[in-house]
Amino acid sequence: MTKIFAHRGSKGTHPENTLVAFREAVRVGSDGIELDVQLSKDGQLVVIHDESIDRTTDGEGLVGEMTVKELKAYDAGSSFSSEYADEKIPTFIEVLNLLTEVGFTGTLNIELKTDQNDYPGIEEKLVDLIQKKQLNFELIYSSFNPLTLERLEKIDPVTKKAWIMVGDKFTILFSKYLTLIDSIHPSFEWLCKSETKIINYSKYIRPWTVNDECEMMKCFDYSVEAFHTDYPARAIQVRNKFLE
Ligand code: G3P
Ligand code: MG
Repeated sequence: MTKIFAHRGSKGTHPENTLVAFREAVRVGSDGIELDVQLSKDGQLVVIHDESIDRTTDGEGLVGEMTVKELKAYDAGSSFSSEYADEKIPTFIEVLNLLTEVGFTGTLNIELKTDQNDYPGIEEKLVDLIQKKQLNFELIYSSFNPLTLERLEKIDPVTKKAWIMVGDKFTILFSKYLTLIDSIHPSFEWLCKSETKIINYSKYIRPWTVNDECEMMKCFDYSVEAFHTDYPARAIQVRNKFLE
C-alpha cells in the first residue's frame, strides 16, 4: 500500500522542519518523514528548507553564514504559531536522536539542499554521521542536484537515492545520472500529466506535495510507492477510506 511521508515533518499543522513537527509526524503514524539538510558556517548539518532563515524564523541571514549557536538564537516556531515560540532550528543529529527516542521505524527521506548553495563536503559529513549511528529506520537520500547524488553514490553506494525532478521535466541532461537512482520524486502535477505511463513504474515514484483529498486518492489509485504531504494525519484517514 502507498506509504505516507510527512513533508518537513507535519508542516501543515506544526512549524516545518522542527522537532515538534517530527514528533507529530511519528505520533500520527507516518510511514516516512522528509526533511531538508544544509550546512552551517561551522560545518554542522542543520535542518531547514530555505537558504536563509528569514521566512521561518524571527531572524535574518543565510544559513551557511551562521554558526549553529547563532542559528539557535532564533525562534523557528512563531512564524507558524506563537504556541511554538520555543522551537529552534534543529541540527540533523538532534532529529536522529528524537526519531530514535520515539521509536520511529519508518523511512527517513533526507533531502540535501544543494541546488542553490552547493555546500562543499555536505555529502561526506552526512554519510560519516550516519555511519557512526545505529539507526532503526531506513534512509533515502534525495536531492534536486544530481552532482550530490553522484557524490553520495561514491561514498555510500548502499543507501537508496532519489532524484527530485526539477519543475515538471525529466530533462535529457539527467540521463547520464540514471544509474545512480532508485526512484524519482516528481511534483504531483507532473504525475497527473504523465498519467498513462505511471502505472508500470509506480513503485519508483514518490510525488510531492499532496495535500488535497482527491489528489491523495489519485496517488492511492496509481499505487505510487509513497507520497509527501504536509498533512500526514489527514492522509492516513484518506487511505483508510480508500481501503474500505
Ligand atoms: O522531497 C520533496 C520535496 O521536499 C521537494 O521540494 O522544496 O519542499 O524541498 P521542497
Ligand atoms: Mg524537501
